[in-house]
Amino acid sequence: MTASESPHQTEDEPDFDAGLLIWPDASTARRRWRTEGCIAAILDRNDPPDLPPALPEETGGALDHADPEGFLLRRRAIRALAGTVLEKPPGEFRITRSATGAPCLAGTGLRISFSGRPPHGAILIARIPAGIDIENIIPADDIPWNILREDERRQLRARLPAAQGEAFIRLWSAKEAYAKALGQGFLLPPESLLIGRNGEARFLPAPGQPRLPDGRTRTTKAQSIGGKAVIVALALLSS
Ligand SMILES: CC(C)(COP(=O)(O)OP(=O)(O)OC[C@H]1O[C@@H](n2cnc3c(N)ncnc32)[C@H](O)[C@@H]1OP(=O)(O)O)[C@@H](O)C(=O)NCCC(=O)NCCS
Repeated sequence: MTASESPHQTEDEPDFDAGLLIWPDASTARRRWRTEGCIAAILDRNDPPDLPPALPEETGGALDHADPEGFLLRRRAIRALAGTVLEKPPGEFRITRSATGAPCLAGTGLRISFSGRPPHGAILIARIPAGIDIENIIPADDIPWNILREDERRQLRARLPAAQGEAFIRLWSAKEAYAKALGQGFLLPPESLLIGRNGEARFLPAPGQPRLPDGRTRTTKAQSIGGKAVIVALALLSS
């Protein structure tokens, strides 16, 4: 398929079941870890699960963050999940960052990913490279058309205006989740990230640029949490 032929995912496609994003109890988390090797969850800071306290270095790191509360909640939650699935005290884990800013669960070889749209957050822990993104739905009037590829603009404009905001966010969140799974974020130009109709994700290198792994993305349907419509996208790399 050429770049210009890559139709992005639509709301008609199969979705990721948003029920899978409810904070899991310990036995559900362990079962999902055994069977899927990947756990994702939405956090609502107004109704957080029971979590371990923040570590002193996390509290220090939060001082520089635009949303200290969300930053700490995501770290406490990922250490809680890691502790459950690896059967270790959550206080034993340390969250570091790669040179490109990707979060890492030091010394485990596992992959983690974070996203925040206050008051919500989304976290993911996986055995393979993976990324997560949570976004609020926007009205069609607020779509930043200039950041889209020509083929993406054409496909979005073919939709009813009432559906365009959600369709844009589904596409954008899938791109962002894939960019995070690649560990680069938007150091990669968004127009180089292609999301196909079934959620398949592909990086289109510029001449001379190395290839990067393909991925598979899935997005939830729009769902209202605490009165806000959000969409969550997950990306898992294929290799
Ligand atoms: C990754 C990125 C797309 C996130 O966009 P956003 O809409 O602002 O924020 P989200 O809430 O969805 O995601 C934030 C999370 O992205 C993660 N992140 C940042 N850079 C990342 C990367 N290169 N790869 C994977 N994840 C990354 C962070 O863990 C952050 O969570 P935290 O605030 O709890 O640490 C954006 O930060 C980006 O493109 N960064 C490029 C990398 C960069 O600038 N690095 C600076 C050098 S260190």
